[in-house]
Amino acid sequence: MRNDSRRPDTLCVHAGSRPDPVTGGLNTPISTSSAHRFPWKNLPEAGYPRYHTLPSQLAPADKLAALEGADVALVTASGLSAIAVTLLAVLGHGDHAVVQRDIYGGTHHLLTAEFPRLGIEFDFADFASEASLRAALRPNTRLIYAETPSNPLLGVVDLAMIAAVGKEIGAVTVCDNTFATPILQKSLALGLDISVHSGTKYLAGHSDLNCGAIAARAAFGERLKEALVNYGPTLNAYDAFLLERGMKTLGLRMERISENAMAVAKWLSRHEQVTKVNYPGLSDHPGHAVAARQMTAFGGMLSFEIAGSEAEARTAVDRLTMIAEAVSLGGVETLICFPRLTSHAKMTAEERHAAGIGDTLLRLSVGIEDKDDIIADLDQALKGS
Ligand SMILES: Cc1ncc(COP(=O)(O)O)c(C=O)c1O
Repeated sequence: MRNDSRRPDTLCVHAGSRPDPVTGGLNTPISTSSAHRFPWKNLPEAGYPRYHTLPSQLAPADKLAALEGADVALVTASGLSAIAVTLLAVLGHGDHAVVQRDIYGGTHHLLTAEFPRLGIEFDFADFASEASLRAALRPNTRLIYAETPSNPLLGVVDLAMIAAVGKEIGAVTVCDNTFATPILQKSLALGLDISVHSGTKYLAGHSDLNCGAIAARAAFGERLKEALVNYGPTLNAYDAFLLERGMKTLGLRMERISENAMAVAKWLSRHEQVTKVNYPGLSDHPGHAVAARQMTAFGGMLSFEIAGSEAEARTAVDRLTMIAEAVSLGGVETLICFPRLTSHAKMTAEERHAAGIGDTLLRLSVGIEDKDDIIADLDQALKGS
C-alpha cells in the first residue's frame, strides 16, 4: 500500500492536487474537453473523461488514495455507482456474497432488485457476530461486504475480523467507509481490500453534489478501472473539482463534527423524552470497544428514538427551527430524518423490523455549527413532546 508519511490534515490540503501548468494557479483546473488531440499519450495528462483521465478527477482520487493508504482510487458519479461498480467488478454469475444486514437501504435495494437477475447470489448476515458471518459463508462466497458504522443504527463491525475471515476463504472484502471517512477509519490498514464511499456525504461535505469513490489495493486496480470504464459512471469535471475542494477541509470538519456529535449524543442520552441513542462513542453502545479500537473518533452520525408515538415524534421534528428535516447527510449543516421514510423506504416493513429500524427512529447528521445551538434546537423541539 502507498505510504505518504504526511499527516491526514496535510494530505487533505496537498495530496493529489494538480496545480495549473498553464497559468500557475494553485488549484486543479477544470478541464472540460471530451475531445483531445491524438495521440493523447504525449499530452501531460488528458483524455476521454469516461476513462477517468481528467486532472480534476485524478486529484480527488489521488487525495483519497493517500488518505486511505490505498494503491489506487477512482471517483464516480454517485456513491451507489461506486458500490455497483465494485460489486460488478468482482462478482459474476454463480458467485455468492455475504452482506452485512444493517446497511444503507439503497445498497440493500441494489442487491435485492438487480442481482438475482444476474445470477449473483447473496445472503445478509449479522456481522456483529463472527459466528453469524461464518454461518452465511458458502463454497462459492467471493465477496464479504461490510458497512461500519452502519446507516442508520450505527452498528459497528470489527473490520480486522472481517479481513481475517475473507483471507481465510479467499474472498474479497469491501467496506462502505462513508460514515467514518478515512480520517476516522482506515479500512485497508485494518486488512480490507476495497473501501467505497458516498462522496456526496463527508468527502465533498457541503450538500451540493452527488459523487462516489473507491479506494483499493493494487491487485484490484485494473479490474475496478475496467469496470468503471465499461459501465461508465465516471464523475464529471465540475463536480470532481468540487469534490477535491471539499476534501481539503475533511480533517477539520470530521474533528469538529465528531466533537459536536459526542456532545449531542451525551445530551440526548440524558433526556427523559429519549428512550434510546445509537452512537458508537457512548460507552453503553454494543460496538463501543471495537469502534474505540478501529476509529480515531466516532463521527457525526447518530440515531435515537423518542418516547411516544410516531405522531409525537413527527410533531417534535416539525418544531425544529434550525435543524432541517432532509435526506442525505455529511454536510456542514445538521440534518434530521426518519430512516423509515427516507434512506430505508424501499425495504419492506418486515425487512426494516428485522434490521431494527423502528417507526420512531430519527437519524441525525450533526454538522459543524456551534454544538450549543444544535442542542438548543433539539431541546425546544423535545420540550413540547
Ligand atoms: C452509507 C451510504 N453508502 C452509500 C450511499 C449512496 O450514496 P449516493 O447517494 O451518493 O449514491 C449512501 C447514501 O445515503 C450512504 O448513506
